[in-house]
Amino acid sequence: MQENSNVFIFDHPLIQHKISLLRDKNTSSKDFRELVSEISVLMGYEVTRDIPLKEIEVETPVAMAKAKTISGKKLAVIPILRAGLGMADGFLQLVPMARVGHIGIYRDHETLEAIEYYCKLPKDIEERDVVLVDPMLATAGSAIGAVECLKKRDVKNIKFMCLIASREGIRRLHTAYPDVAIYCAAVDEELNEFGYIVPGLGDAGDRLFGTK
Ligand code: PRP
Ligand code: URA
Repeated sequence: MQENSNVFIFDHPLIQHKISLLRDKNTSSKDFRELVSEISVLMGYEVTRDIPLKEIEVETPVAMAKAKTISGKKLAVIPILRAGLGMADGFLQLVPMARVGHIGIYRDHETLEAIEYYCKLPKDIEERDVVLVDPMLATAGSAIGAVECLKKRDVKNIKFMCLIASREGIRRLHTAYPDVAIYCAAVDEELNEFGYIVPGLGDAGDRLFGTK
């Protein structure tokens, strides 16, 4: 994994291979969903690397052992609807005890402005570390809107996990919220006039749910 001032890029060969399959326009919705989930598991493994542990004693069939267990740190995974749903599922396979919140944001197709239409978070969200998930970071309007919504609720530790980010999106999100760690599997150079990442993978929500 490459790291540069709170931006982490996953160069693991398995992740890169699966990202190439995702980009392929001939990949079916079923395969697309499975790949998004698999990549989220692989990325989630690294994103959770700093979960604190505590020592416990376990009785093995042979003797008492000093062992380690997750210290009960409270985590929440929050997909940005719709496309983030595909990533939350993979992340929850790794961390099934995480609570799940939902933030609904869509981009106005004309103005590209991020419009929030839904927000349902765990009651104690301000006590939890949050992993915000969305496959695409394009203009960053949606990610910035979601982070704002969490900051208003006094969430202190936020990580943003996406699959493909534009360089511009990373710059905007990092400038707005340098404390939010950004994890992605690929960085593409361009955005087109419709705010789509080029080459990207197209509309992530439509490809996940077969709506186009
Ligand atoms: C997509 C994607 C992100 C957003 C990224 O959602 O899932 O949320 O665009 O673009 P941005 O960085 O320019 O904000 P979309 O608005 O298409 O909504 P959907 O998931 O409901 O299809
Ligand atoms: N949202 C998508 O789903 N894809 C893009 O390329 C940009 C925003």
